[in-house]
Amino acid sequence: MTAARKIIIDTDPGQDDALAILLALGSPELDVLGITTVAGNVPLALTEKNARKICELAGKSDIRVFAGAIRPLVRTLVTAEHVHGRTGLDGPDLAEPEMPLQKEHAVDFIVDTLMAHGENEVTLCPLGPLTNIALALNREPRIAPRIRQIVLMGGGFFEGGNVTPTAEFNIYVDPHAADVVLRAGVPLVMMPLDVTHKALTTRARIASIRDLGTKVGNACAELLEFFERFDEEKYGTDGGPLHDPCVIAYLLKPELFKGRACNVTVETGSELTMGMTVIDWWHVTERPKNALVMRDIDDDGFFELLTERLARL
Ligand code: RIB
Ligand code: CA
Repeated sequence: MTAARKIIIDTDPGQDDALAILLALGSPELDVLGITTVAGNVPLALTEKNARKICELAGKSDIRVFAGAIRPLVRTLVTAEHVHGRTGLDGPDLAEPEMPLQKEHAVDFIVDTLMAHGENEVTLCPLGPLTNIALALNREPRIAPRIRQIVLMGGGFFEGGNVTPTAEFNIYVDPHAADVVLRAGVPLVMMPLDVTHKALTTRARIASIRDLGTKVGNACAELLEFFERFDEEKYGTDGGPLHDPCVIAYLLKPELFKGRACNVTVETGSELTMGMTVIDWWHVTERPKNALVMRDIDDDGFFELLTERLARL
């Protein structure tokens, strides 16, 4: 077996972040060097605690968790308690974490880790606002050529936005950070709403996870039943879109996804379209194709992979 792929997960848990972290921790193909947390769905004091709760739920209290940016680069923090609940992990009653939060700042960890590894060794997996990633790139531009890939959940185009008519939450919260990442010249894979809205947590899929009959399976079913209610009411669908695990599933089985290399540019000036990701899907401009943008998913295959890996925890 080839060496496990080294990744850093940057996250704002968030129920869907939780499932993404658990998918990664249940997959031996991945070596999670650390989990860096950022303000997003809920404030940083909660996202860092939630990340530790999730590691303990997985029985992986040795994973290093770091706290990062407490607010976006420029804009005022916008959170999403209406979706994720007051704690950010509403649904199951998860114990207060006992594992420690690392003392090093998340941005220092990202920079130090990349500088300590060779080129093309470490993959960054942002699941929330891109503040930590932008701060790391601005702090130490020499990390850019050392990053193997950034595989991120964020943005949207054909599907529109989920926090404004044009913007997806992660990009909307910190559009200036997204601009830094999009311009950094790092190989990007983007999981926008256009693909994550095709990965719905239907009743049958949640039942398969609950039927695992494990502590992790039961907690995930409760996380998803809480998380999906907002989008079910909004979109009238059976289940809600499971955004963040698409990032980890891509690392494990890229063949589950279909997309194309496009230019992606983010709006940082207009209040009307702030945070909009303008995706040149039909290549009508000469702008550089700076991202591999996913638009389709084998959703049955995705949930089979997710459920099988959760069963290992
Ligand atoms: O718009 C969906 C994204 O915003 C997901 O990452 C979810 O966790 C929230 O952070
Ligand atoms: Ca997230």
